Amino acid sequence: MQTEENPSKNKQLIDYQGSRRLSVAPMLDWTDHHYRHMARQISRHTWLYTEMINAGAINHGDAGRFLRFNDGEQPLALQLGGSEPAALAQAAATAAAWGYNEINLNCGCPSPRVQKGAFGACLMNEADLVADCLNAMQDAVAIPVTVKHRIGVDRQSDYQVVADFVGTLSRKTACKTFIVHARNAWLDGLSPKENRDIPPLKYDYVYRLKQEFPQLEIIINGGITTQAQIAGHLAHVDGVMVGREAYHNPMVMRDWDAVFYGDHRPALDHAGLVHILHDYAAGQIAANTGITLRHMARHYLGLMHGLNGARQWRRMLSDAALLKHNDAELILAAWAQVAVKD
Ligand SMILES: Cc1cc2nc3c(=O)[nH]c(=O)nc-3n(C[C@H](O)[C@H](O)[C@H](O)COP(=O)(O)O)c2cc1C
Repeated sequence: MQTEENPSKNKQLIDYQGSRRLSVAPMLDWTDHHYRHMARQISRHTWLYTEMINAGAINHGDAGRFLRFNDGEQPLALQLGGSEPAALAQAAATAAAWGYNEINLNCGCPSPRVQKGAFGACLMNEADLVADCLNAMQDAVAIPVTVKHRIGVDRQSDYQVVADFVGTLSRKTACKTFIVHARNAWLDGLSPKENRDIPPLKYDYVYRLKQEFPQLEIIINGGITTQAQIAGHLAHVDGVMVGREAYHNPMVMRDWDAVFYGDHRPALDHAGLVHILHDYAAGQIAANTGITLRHMARHYLGLMHGLNGARQWRRMLSDAALLKHNDAELILAAWAQVAVKD
């Protein structure tokens, strides 16, 4: 059941003792609570992040609309965008009351819209301001406050840039967790999408951060898709954050609990998951809050990745005429088309 306007209900879960060994990246428009519901069925332990939410939207808008999440979705981190310490602190306090397990500050987003608001990746050039933001947030909540950033901005190519950023924050704040997208943000001319592919990945910079700041939790992100790659990175850093692969091929997470968290309870198979998603979608539609099948099904398109019938599954769940009926049975009908059932 979805948690609506009842923040205190989740408060008891605040003390969740989990590990950020693996996480799914915050992704605007993608990692909403429907996606996260699905991801949580596939992995019990992987840390999940919301989309970036503007502190102002929480402080001045309908906080419940942005902060609600499903029972069982934790461990869950809220990612905030902003650069005003007081506004970020207020939003963080609201989110903590809702039961989030972590508040993360975005210092890596290259979108021009975000730059205009003077937050996101351009904050990497303003470590002192970021420190003020983190301190204000940490004073307002008892849960960890973390930061996600790049290794530099524009053509800065020196390791020292990211080392100074992390060094300043670790000296001036209580922040212990740094999630590092291992490429620069080029703010002068690349689109956000290009900024996720074109600036070169420099994993060695992130490894070096861990060597030079062994007391910090360093999490690596960027271009990581396979279990072998994850295992390789974990030999150098504390955690791995996966973005696009966990969205386009969610079943990549199926073995993560066993392999990376030592939890050998049987993983859910496709059939079991399909039935859970069907029941969830039916419940959401029946609740009559304006949520439609399309809102959920769009996140399910990559689920059959690699199976025969995957194309048919995707086609049916993105067919406007079929979705118009707003009937969760479509999920079962699409599943019937998938030839190889495990
Ligand atoms: C559609 C989309 C939206 C994104 N939105 C955010 C965001 O809101 N906040 C953020 O810090 N990063 C955002 N990112 C970047 C990811 O968190 C991640 O750093 C990036 O995709 C690199 O990881 P990957 O190669 O595993 O995908 C977004 C990425 C994508 C593809």
